[in-house]
Amino acid sequence: MINILVTGGTGFIGSHTCVELLEKGYEVVVLDNLCNSKESAIDRIKKITGKNLKFYKADLLDIEAVDKVFSENKIDAVIHFAGLKAVGESVEKPLEYYENNLGGTFNLIKTMKKYNVNKFVFSSSATVYGMDNNVPYTEDMPTSATNPYGYTKVMIEQILKDITVADKKLSIVALRYFNPIGAHESGLIGEDPHGIPNNLVPYVAQVALGRLDALRIFGNDYDTPDGTGIRDYIHVTDLAVGHLAALEYADKNVGFQPINLGTGKGTSVLEVVKAYEKACGREIKFNITERRAGDIAVSYAETTLAKKLLGWEAKRDIDKMCADSWNFTINNTEGM
Ligand code: NAD
Ligand code: UFG
Repeated sequence: MINILVTGGTGFIGSHTCVELLEKGYEVVVLDNLCNSKESAIDRIKKITGKNLKFYKADLLDIEAVDKVFSENKIDAVIHFAGLKAVGESVEKPLEYYENNLGGTFNLIKTMKKYNVNKFVFSSSATVYGMDNNVPYTEDMPTSATNPYGYTKVMIEQILKDITVADKKLSIVALRYFNPIGAHESGLIGEDPHGIPNNLVPYVAQVALGRLDALRIFGNDYDTPDGTGIRDYIHVTDLAVGHLAALEYADKNVGFQPINLGTGKGTSVLEVVKAYEKACGREIKFNITERRAGDIAVSYAETTLAKKLLGWEAKRDIDKMCADSWNFTINNTEGM
């Protein structure tokens, strides 16, 4: 297994995964339509690794463009990050989300079949655990969703499972990410959201920079030790390394396998604020506001299966995540 196609490879998690792949000696081909990222990510990946990678600016919804990538490269396995991911936007534009995330995946797996590519790693999400399961989340729990984005992940997982039943050559790993944050140590790549961030850490970073006045903490009356929501934050580099382990697993096994990628440790919003203050040496102002619709109190992973099947576990703690986020933020005040 040498040549890896990375869809969404200029995005946040994809770019970090390209770095880890290149550093381990894989050849990388990136396909991205740049709807939520910039081509500069490719130059930065090259700068970090000193290695070359191929880039196709192409849309997964354009099956001829996808075919061109497979016809011009001998692809051994695919890591599929490309998709739209904003929960709130998915409620406003459900059709766009279903069309892009499902349609893009259909074109990709149809083309894989045509070129006899059988190894596939998919970006799923802890969102598939819905609102009704108890923590820690285990991979055998029933899946559900509360918004169109979440449904795209639930539906794609089901489709991937069905196709592995019909085609015994297929090997598919669905990685269920918890809350990826942080950035590459170099400060060259990181999360570069457009406009006002929806997620906690990118928002806190903008407050630290002085671009936003204060964080709104969405509720301090949850049934948690300090009343604020608890999540399983995971360093994006740890997450990226998990994809290499998943590729090796897919190389040796067939069938469909969902696997959590988290630390197994929960951190509250107030604890994140404190860790970020330590990282940046500045005060993070905040106000307590109403709960955000659709939020749950606590989410964290059971990580046993990842250890057992992939031999992988997260290494970096919340202080390192905040330090690397701040290093990226302060070095890229005009974006990537
Ligand atoms: P991102 O937006 O930074 O990266 C996704 C990339 O896909 C972008 O570069 C975008 O331009 C590209 N893309 C989208 N639609 C495309 C299409 N039709 N054709 C070609 N390219 C397309 O997001 P990310 O945070 O790196 O997330 C990567 C994957 O992980 C997504 O599938 C996301 O749903 C999933 N995920 C992310 C998180 C998170 O909190 N970041 C959590 C769980 C799961
Ligand atoms: N929060 C605030 N203020 C903010 C933003 C967030 O208090 O401005 C709180 C939230 O209420 C929550 C925590 O910070 O308690 C984390 O919120 P995020 O928006 O950063 O992350 P979520 O856990 O809500 O959702 C993320 C992704 C989803 C994904 C889910 C599970 O955005 O796409 O993790 O992987 F499905």
